[in-house]
Amino acid sequence: MTLSGAARLAGVIGWPVNQSLSPLLHGNWLKEYGIDGAYLPLPIAPPDFSRSIEGLLKAGFKGFNVTVPHKEAAYALAGRHDAAAKAIGAVNLLLATPEGLEGRNTDAYGLATTLSEQLGEGALRGKVAAIWGAGGTTRAAIHALAGLGVSEIRLFNRTPAKAAALASSYSAHGTLKLSGAGYDAWSGNDVAVIVHTTSAGMKQTPSLDLSLDDLPVGAAVFDAVYNPLETGLLAKARTRGLKTVDGLWMLLHQAVPSFAAFYGITPTVTDVLRSKLVKALQGG
Ligand code: ATR
Repeated sequence: MTLSGAARLAGVIGWPVNQSLSPLLHGNWLKEYGIDGAYLPLPIAPPDFSRSIEGLLKAGFKGFNVTVPHKEAAYALAGRHDAAAKAIGAVNLLLATPEGLEGRNTDAYGLATTLSEQLGEGALRGKVAAIWGAGGTTRAAIHALAGLGVSEIRLFNRTPAKAAALASSYSAHGTLKLSGAGYDAWSGNDVAVIVHTTSAGMKQTPSLDLSLDDLPVGAAVFDAVYNPLETGLLAKARTRGLKTVDGLWMLLHQAVPSFAAFYGITPTVTDVLRSKLVKALQGG
């Protein structure tokens, strides 16, 4: 669509950024809602991060999504943070406000919405969740699962010390039980959901080879990896008769609050939009 001089501008900052699906996603919504606005891919190298943002804000940008490797730098740059950004320690949404730059994190919202929609509202309340991994995505997953009311989260990671450290750094979460261990301690016999947050299984790499045999009937497996859409882990879970949820849902839902903040309309995640993203992932 043609832009006016008053067009609302936003974009995604990453290095590199050419693989990002966010311009396609936001671009579709801009078109669907007939908004006078644009959403641009903004490849910015780490040393140029803060002064590029300063310049773009002077040019009238409303805000930015921030992806690898800038999420911690974005946290440091923001003068204020929402509760999710504070809990996770990373920012994926920077907004220009009259009070200065505000940092938010929408990843936990994206995961919580995905799990509620795919597993049913309240399905995880009081249940045991396992997270595989102990990195940045894991922090968002802890925040999401805590918000969904699970009673216990067990972290498992290749480097057990990182899982243990992450678990103890979250110990202030009320009655929620948190623990961290290595994969040798993995057992799924009372686990309602596995949330996989490592990069294993991405593109041509193998998924983590952990047994799903003792998971209870009705348990679910979520994989944050969405390329391929069905990872080795999800294929194994499907074969085992478990409920599977792919990471593309999380990508779609985490974009909703960003779009609303940039353009003033809360967009809807539809199957049509999802299939456009699937097509793009498949190179179509
Ligand atoms: P992100 O911000 O995307 O979560 P990260 O913070 O670098 O990325 O974390 C990467 C996570 O993936 C870690 O849990 C890492 O395990 P270690 O802590 O042992 O490094 C995990 N990871 C990456 N590649 C892996 C692999 N091939 N097998 C198992 N775990 C892997």
